[in-house]
Amino acid sequence: MANANPLLLLSSLLLTYAICSFSLPPCPSCGSTSVPYPLSTAPNCGDPSYRIRCVSGTLLFDSSNNSYPITSISPSNQRLIVAPSSFLPNTCIAADLPSNGLQLNSSAPFNITSSNTIFYLNCSDTILNSPLNCTSNSLCHLYVNGTNSASDCGNTPCCAFRAGGSTTSYRIRVRQDGCRAYRSFVNLDYGLPVSRWPQPGVELQWVLPREPTCGGQGDCGWGSTCGPDPNSNAGIRRCFCNSGLQWDPLTGVCAKECQDPDGCGKDPTPLIAGLTAGLGVALIAALIGFLVYRRHRRIKEEQERLTREREEILNAGGGKTAKVFTGKEIKKATNNFAKDRLLGAGGYGEVYKGILEDGTMVAVKCAKLGNAKGTDQVLNEVRILCQVNHKSLVRLLGCCVELEQPLLVYEYIPNGTLLDHLQGGNRGLLSWKRRLSIAHATAEGLAYLHFSAVPPIYHRDVKSSNILLDEKLNGKVSDFGLSRLAHTDLSHISTCAQGTLGYLDPEYYRNYQLTDKSDVYSFGVVLLELLTSQKAIDFNRPPDDVNLAVYVQRLVEEERIMDAVDPMLKEGASTLELETMKALGFLAVGCLEERRQNRPSMKEVAEEIEYIISITAAKAAEQ
Ligand SMILES: *[C@@H]1O[C@H](CO)[C@@H](O)[C@H](O)[C@H]1NC(C)=O
Ligand SMILES: *[C@@H]1O[C@H](CO)[C@@H](O)[C@H](O)[C@H]1NC(C)=O
Ligand SMILES: *[C@@H]1O[C@H](CO)[C@@H](O)[C@H](O)[C@H]1NC(C)=O
Ligand SMILES: *[C@@H]1O[C@H](CO)[C@@H](O)[C@H](O)[C@H]1NC(C)=O
Ligand SMILES: *[C@@H]1O[C@H](CO)[C@@H](O)[C@H](O)[C@H]1NC(C)=O
Ligand SMILES: *[C@@H]1O[C@H](CO)[C@@H](O)[C@H](O)[C@H]1NC(C)=O
Repeated sequence: MANANPLLLLSSLLLTYAICSFSLPPCPSCGSTSVPYPLSTAPNCGDPSYRIRCVSGTLLFDSSNNSYPITSISPSNQRLIVAPSSFLPNTCIAADLPSNGLQLNSSAPFNITSSNTIFYLNCSDTILNSPLNCTSNSLCHLYVNGTNSASDCGNTPCCAFRAGGSTTSYRIRVRQDGCRAYRSFVNLDYGLPVSRWPQPGVELQWVLPREPTCGGQGDCGWGSTCGPDPNSNAGIRRCFCNSGLQWDPLTGVCAKECQDPDGCGKDPTPLIAGLTAGLGVALIAALIGFLVYRRHRRIKEEQERLTREREEILNAGGGKTAKVFTGKEIKKATNNFAKDRLLGAGGYGEVYKGILEDGTMVAVKCAKLGNAKGTDQVLNEVRILCQVNHKSLVRLLGCCVELEQPLLVYEYIPNGTLLDHLQGGNRGLLSWKRRLSIAHATAEGLAYLHFSAVPPIYHRDVKSSNILLDEKLNGKVSDFGLSRLAHTDLSHISTCAQGTLGYLDPEYYRNYQLTDKSDVYSFGVVLLELLTSQKAIDFNRPPDDVNLAVYVQRLVEEERIMDAVDPMLKEGASTLELETMKALGFLAVGCLEERRQNRPSMKEVAEEIEYIISITAAKAAEQ
């Protein structure tokens, strides 16, 4: 059908356009379980008042005094199921009896739903006076009789009831002088035989989240403003959506309000079907033609408006102008992402070589960012990264947000990566002087990111394959700030996925935070690569020496640092040059200090390398 495509296009346009901003992204998956908004496994994702925990791939729900594994989550109706406490071995006593069973914090946004059928087991006789169903034909007897794991509960009073009443919406109470164990089933069909009942579970529901709280405007994403909560007298402030936008509690974003006078997302078919009866075929054809034409025009206008608005976001605040590339432009430039244009594939996605209409060569990077960020947020981050301007940093020229994944468009650096050069056949091209110069340039680029960029940018993935060389073999740092675009936690995940373990700050394993000093650590490894021409991780070295950082640190302890230096560099080197190699080695080892506070800052590293270069130059001038 002629109008199928434009419709599809329009709806996808509206869809991407609806996503505007949120303060915190949804949390990354826990093991293979995804964690929908607003559930929060860390302070920097989800809505922190919906705290759950992720422990070695399992999600845990913390009640007031206990933890229960989460077995399923259903974000569409804000429900999750936790596994109830088990019985102590060979008894009819619940493991959570000491803490009086399952008790939810009534200030937390969770309650127990009325879909739960609860059995109280091993009850004292006093329970028989309760309003619960403790008769001999109560369902709980059926359960005890029909379930092996509950066989210890036979011959004791038991009762059944539906949860969710006022006293049971926050707790399933067991206690020493009442009932000592419980079981719960979600949506139990009383007609089924016990053998076909589902696994025991307690279903909880969460309240739809409000706008995130904020201390100041800085906590709020684009499209929202920090202001006092009119429903709170405790002085709480929240990121309220700006006018024209509406809080969507399911996704935690400010979404565009519907402004289409013809109704948003309404299928035109009923209208057409209704008219069919009364109108002649020709008239209908004309009408359809007109609708299609109008739709086409609207799509075009919509597209132009979108591009304009995106460009405005991208270039807000002045400075360097960044370009919003259209999907068409990028497809043309990369010959529709042709295989022979593929430059490489990194942890964040593939990189293609592109030639723009004016002949400019660019590198187009597909940013595999998950669905963590909305279009406007991507634009906002790209805007920040486009402001970054230093001769040793690869320039980001703009982006394209029209195709499936956001694309980043960089200046094209022709000569491959430092890693390729050090490990390829022609590492001889990299003289000692050249290597010092590459080290200096990249250190300055990183120092610029840490100390001159606003806000400061931590690279988080410094490695020799992220240092590009231009035609004169000048070093240029690429891929900085990609972590800003991704999930907050993606740096962690991608580090594993990319196998850049050889570069990873060991303190990261202790607190899962990457700082400027983590970049310093990784840069220390790059310095060792420049010095030794060896790989950061190499399984061809003896087992203890697989990790280059560990290997060189050992040699330093044995006062044999020069043994690590690339023999090609040592060959024919002057005494002074040998001394500078040693000096760079010690600087690298300083960057690799176990404790962050003992590592130099990137600025100090850059100055130190400059000093090493200056003594070589001074001596050369003397001779
Ligand atoms: C039922 O609870 C009582 C009191 O805690 C305990 O002594 C008894 O062993 C329990 N019965 C079974 C079968 O575990
Ligand atoms: C369990 O938590 C509640 C607070 O929600 C507290 O009042 C109670 O004393 C706790 N019970 C135990 C046994 O720790
Ligand atoms: C219950 O939740 C409130 C607010 O989230 C918190 O301040 C309080 O410490 C919690 N109480 C317990 C017993 O966990
Ligand atoms: C108790 O539950 C059983 C089984 O569902 C039912 O047949 C019976 O009528 C209930 N008795 C009372 C007093 O509610
Ligand atoms: C318990 O189950 C057995 C068979 O599994 C059945 O013969 C017996 O009548 C049941 N007793 C009760 C009280 O339901
Ligand atoms: C639990 O919370 C939901 C969402 O706020 C609410 O609709 C429901 O009535 C509550 N259920 C109970 C039993 O309090």
